[in-house]
Amino acid sequence: MAYTFRGNPMSEALRRDGNRAVAFDRVADPTGFHRHLAKFNQGRVAVGTPDMDWEEQIATDWRARLDEGGFLEALRQEVAQGAAAAPAADFVAWFERLRDVGAGQNDPLFDWLAAHASMAQMRWFLCQEAAGEAGFDDLVAYTQVKLPARAKLELARNYWDEMGRGKQRGMHGPMLSALIADLGGAPDIDSTLWEPLALANTMLGLALNRRYVYQSIGALGVVELTAPGRVAKVAAGLQRLGFSARQRAYFDLHAAIDLRHSREWNAEVIQPLVAADPRCARHIAEGALMRLACGARCFARYRAELWNVAPTTG
Ligand SMILES: [Fe+2]
Ligand SMILES: [Fe+2]
Repeated sequence: MAYTFRGNPMSEALRRDGNRAVAFDRVADPTGFHRHLAKFNQGRVAVGTPDMDWEEQIATDWRARLDEGGFLEALRQEVAQGAAAAPAADFVAWFERLRDVGAGQNDPLFDWLAAHASMAQMRWFLCQEAAGEAGFDDLVAYTQVKLPARAKLELARNYWDEMGRGKQRGMHGPMLSALIADLGGAPDIDSTLWEPLALANTMLGLALNRRYVYQSIGALGVVELTAPGRVAKVAAGLQRLGFSARQRAYFDLHAAIDLRHSREWNAEVIQPLVAADPRCARHIAEGALMRLACGARCFARYRAELWNVAPTTG
């Protein structure tokens, strides 16, 4: 049976606007849309057990996946022009330039976090960042399925670093959770702005749908490329606020290790994939630009909230 898109908010918005870019601004209720999708994603990746209602669940999931597809397609359209300009020859050089010229790079939010944010403001920022967090480790794991050996091996090395090279205390995800717990924060989808939820929904949607595997590779690669500059400033802010080296570990670690992750991702994943099939360059570029666009929206919204309405004392 053909699906009609009736009652599907994102797909209806797409149809109304003649398939022009509607990824962010033209959805009537972006908060409702992204919270709904974030909750679907939370259940989608959770450890589960067989359920009597599995048939109904599949019908519900199907609608959410269509919403997800509508959003991701709109976001692709938003960045399509920029991605089309990416050259297949010397693609890695184009990709690496995103560190300087990509959307949201050098956002003033991070200098302010380093030098001025109060404890309450830092806690709020980290909770917003953490609430929709899909987990870089799981995104890498979902993305690596069926990749060619050289790329798959690099994703495996990256995953192993995420896993603390087999030591629980070195696992990246729990390090961040421990800091949030020390701050007394409780990340929660219903108190999270739609911009960080849209970012997390994008990352998981790209990693879980095999048609977007190259976009996922681009999105993960641009995180490695752009994270070090930002996390070093967050680490400086945490140090200024009196957090210990152990508490700052997640940010200090990524300020250093992601420089290597980025170099290796570009050399072992992106370069060989584009060399083997230059047509994938556009898709990798799209994923990177989609992730950067989501990040830039987050930074702008955080600034608006933190500099105008959020509490200023910790
Ligand atoms: Fe990490
Ligand atoms: Fe990394």
